[in-house]
Amino acid sequence: MAVAVSGKIQRISGPAVIAEGMMGARMYDIVRVGKEELIGEIIRLDGNTAFVQVYEDTGGLTIGEAVVSTGLPLAVELGPGMLNGIFDGIQRPLDKINEATGTYIDRGIVVNSLSRDLKWAFTPRVAVGDEVEGGSILGTVPEFAFTHKILVPPDKKGKIKSIVPAGEYTVEDVVATLEDGTELKLYHPWPVRQARPVTVKLDPVTPFLTGMRILDVLFPLTMGGTAAIPGPFGSGKTVTQQSVAKYGNADIVVYVGCGERGNEMTDVLVEFPELEDPQTGNPLMHRTVLIANTSNMPVAAREASIYTGITLAEYFRDQGYGVSVMADSTSRWAEALREIASRLEEMPAEEGYPPYLASRLAAFYERGGRVTTLAGEEGAVSIIGAVSPAGGDFSEPVTQSTLRITGCFWALDASLARRRHFPAINWNRSYTLFYSILDDWYGENVAEDYTHLRDRATSLLQQEADLQEVVQLVGPDALQDQERLVIEVGRILRQDFLQQNGFDPVDASCSMKKAYGMLQMMVKLNDQAAAFLRDGGTVDEVLQQPVIEKINRARYVPEDEFESYLGDVLGELDTAFSVAA
Ligand SMILES: Nc1ncnc2c1ncn2[C@@H]1O[C@H](COP(=O)(O)OP(=O)(O)OP(=O)(O)O)[C@@H](O)[C@H]1O
Ligand SMILES: [Mg+2]
Repeated sequence: MAVAVSGKIQRISGPAVIAEGMMGARMYDIVRVGKEELIGEIIRLDGNTAFVQVYEDTGGLTIGEAVVSTGLPLAVELGPGMLNGIFDGIQRPLDKINEATGTYIDRGIVVNSLSRDLKWAFTPRVAVGDEVEGGSILGTVPEFAFTHKILVPPDKKGKIKSIVPAGEYTVEDVVATLEDGTELKLYHPWPVRQARPVTVKLDPVTPFLTGMRILDVLFPLTMGGTAAIPGPFGSGKTVTQQSVAKYGNADIVVYVGCGERGNEMTDVLVEFPELEDPQTGNPLMHRTVLIANTSNMPVAAREASIYTGITLAEYFRDQGYGVSVMADSTSRWAEALREIASRLEEMPAEEGYPPYLASRLAAFYERGGRVTTLAGEEGAVSIIGAVSPAGGDFSEPVTQSTLRITGCFWALDASLARRRHFPAINWNRSYTLFYSILDDWYGENVAEDYTHLRDRATSLLQQEADLQEVVQLVGPDALQDQERLVIEVGRILRQDFLQQNGFDPVDASCSMKKAYGMLQMMVKLNDQAAAFLRDGGTVDEVLQQPVIEKINRARYVPEDEFESYLGDVLGELDTAFSVAA
């Protein structure tokens, strides 16, 4: 049972407050601070002293004001009404119109996360007498094109005593009761710092497809896998995450905007609601929950937003869906940890970050994964976190800690971005742990020889990089014709395969089938031209062939026209060089 512990403010330091007389309070309890009842969370306890991070502006608080524990942990409300929603770090809904100009929520305000007035069309799936347990599906509610499954909370079970008929209900209406008297509604609360339980975690077997060739082909992520996007200022972290949110093969997107600069978050708040879902043509927001920390929110709210986001994602996973979580940027969260830790005079570790930085990051990414849900369905949470190392220095603690945890490391590169090579993902510095795990899937779903072609392309890119070093040292004249060909094919792979224009309607997203077709063209070009050179042809003759320009243009060919385009190009490659020879 919740015990109301009440103490007094002893010290205030920015978003951190130290309170005395808190004996009996628990770690991570939510407290109300001061006359305005600001919302805070106990993050350290030492005897009767509680260290509190306050999620609201602490200006005007004075020493001696009351700090009252609610006896409850920070929790979110899980039920219909989250999709198309924009919330702050503690799941308070932000008014859609105001946030672009800078919302200001009154301090200490308690608002329901989910509307108490909206009615939802509930269709039951259980009958009186049915045994249910945590995770069982009570019924469904349509939410835009999405089927929201209403779950029995993980900690409840029993026999259904009553169930309402199909009809319209608010989230507060009791839709079912259990024999022990437990009342079940369309929503239930869940503490954000506690991972939601699953039956079992499963190994990754399918790819999380992003529509970006460099990621899907060279550095694939799995369904339920984790990826980090480190990159310096302006290198494309946000554009990449938005593109993955839009074209990635997840049912639901949870986008956590952890911004430092106000305009960065404003961009997301303005742009996101305008994005169209390429699968349906509807607004992308219809399958998205946006969690935003605007710049006028205190740093502590960034911490909460990460946990709020992952908990919402787990809830959709528990319904048997694939969910992607975008966190932009986890560095801002780490900086919040650092600021609060220093306010509380904790012993700093590397670069002033608290010693528990790595374990916090790990605990967050560990909440991703492909699972069997409590109801026996398969669900997945894939996490993609941006990291913003100052000056693009990947040796700093947040980047280093993150790369030890995540399965993919998609390294953005300022020099590629400067050269307008987009996505500016450096193929020499990036990696994935899932490269060969997915080979069976590719064999069955793309083509038998797909992995072979992919490996050929990887090797050509590597050879090209090596030859470029030679060119730097001794100039291009030192190269043999065969080597010059590798440079030319490498250039085609870089410019026409790895590059992708995120703003072009066709090129923005590419299926595996199309990516495979493009690899077929480029590898065949290499092989045919190499044979032609062996027969006495020259590289200049190769480059004059009109088929080259067709290969250059392939990425702009729409998916539905691609097959015949591919057939034409492969056919031309068969004859182009034999005729010239
Ligand atoms: N895939 C892409 N296609 C075309 N242009 C791109 C792409 N990625 C990035 N850009 C260009 O780079 C600019 C900066 O990208 P973005 O805002 O994503 O960088 P960021 O790494 O999030 O920066 P910050 O550190 O400020 O958050 C974009 O406005 C766009 O002009
Ligand atoms: Mg950004």
